[in-house]
Amino acid sequence: MTAPTPVRALPRSEPTDHPVESVIVGYGHAGRDLHHRILIALAGRGAVPRGEALVVDPVRPVDPLPGSRWLSSLPQALAALGSPASAVVHVATPVRDRARTIRDLAAAGIRRVIMEKPFAESPAAARELTDLIRDCGVDVLPVAVWPSSTITRRVVELLAAGRIGRPVSLHVEQSKPRFRRSFENSAHSSAFEVELPHQMLLALHLFGDAESVEAVSWPLRNPAGQDRMLGGATVCLRHRDGLVTTLTSDLTSPVRIRRLRLRGTEGEIVAHYPIGGDDPFGQIQVTGERDRTLLPDAPLTTFVEDCYRYFTGSEERPAGTDLRLHARVTELLAAASAAAVPGDAPSLLGRPDSHAFEE
Ligand SMILES: NC(=O)c1ccc[n+]([C@@H]2O[C@H](COP(=O)([O-])OP(=O)(O)OC[C@H]3O[C@@H](n4cnc5c(N)ncnc54)[C@H](O)[C@@H]3O)[C@@H](O)[C@H]2O)c1
Repeated sequence: MTAPTPVRALPRSEPTDHPVESVIVGYGHAGRDLHHRILIALAGRGAVPRGEALVVDPVRPVDPLPGSRWLSSLPQALAALGSPASAVVHVATPVRDRARTIRDLAAAGIRRVIMEKPFAESPAAARELTDLIRDCGVDVLPVAVWPSSTITRRVVELLAAGRIGRPVSLHVEQSKPRFRRSFENSAHSSAFEVELPHQMLLALHLFGDAESVEAVSWPLRNPAGQDRMLGGATVCLRHRDGLVTTLTSDLTSPVRIRRLRLRGTEGEIVAHYPIGGDDPFGQIQVTGERDRTLLPDAPLTTFVEDCYRYFTGSEERPAGTDLRLHARVTELLAAASAAAVPGDAPSLLGRPDSHAFEE
């Protein structure tokens, strides 16, 4: 596998005197329920200038959030902006054709973009996108959820303090029941596009570049029709220093799990990321500690807040937003998906019940 192509660092977008306007392109689950809700919450505590947003979607939103103004096309929205250079555009459309969207935004004078994952639908598309972003002068921050998490920051501190010795293996599981959306919605066609981009980014953020070693994936059985390749997948990676990472995402899981297990030569860290925005706390425990530590954690909210601070000139580029990292995630996931052997979803009988008593 080839090393990531170096991409020139972009000049930081210049702060302007105009008020920041937010535009959300793609007002489905991510645009409405994540990005717009977060903007409203951040505006409520003064962390971003306003919760109002121009929302762009060819489909009229059925239940728009307060403060949204819907326009059906990007040109209409761009024409409605007071100052395109001071707008922040959230791209929350399905992964197809991100390059076209960035090209249209650049042509209209947009300079600041937050772009949802996955970064691109293929390694070729990722290369086209990184070249385009480098050349068109738009400052694009690809969404990096777990690098913005308090749990991840604590893991980094524990590693730096040598609390588990030399890290040997990382296992990240991000599973959830995802039936209705997978049957009804075509935003994703493979389990490698749903949670695995987040997990892969986390693994590379923590331990640097890796090679994909093996992968297995399983279908989502549809009792009423055709099966879809959205059941789940496990990917095994080897990092340059020999550390082995296993990433598992079971989208047929009966329960939500967002767990990191990091084994070292002298101990282990087990952490659970918050399983949703409605209960923003994670937990972490390290070998030798009697109790788990509870940490407030709202990583996507922190990420969006950090993006606005960066765009308005008061913060450094948010962690995990290096375009090379995202292009590499695309490359590794494509390699894993192409090499994946068909398998079965984890057996329900095999799931350990943490409080089962020995018979
Ligand atoms: N960061 C996260 O945790 C997270 C969570 C969910 C989804 N996502 C990502 O967000 C993206 C969207 O996923 P979703 O679940 O919201 O899908 P969705 O199908 O619910 O919504 C997508 C919306 O985009 C609209 N759209 C399509 N093409 C458009 C265009 N050219 N211009 C404007 N609008 C357009 C559709 O009409 C739809 O309303 C995907 O890339 C997905 O991976 C990220």
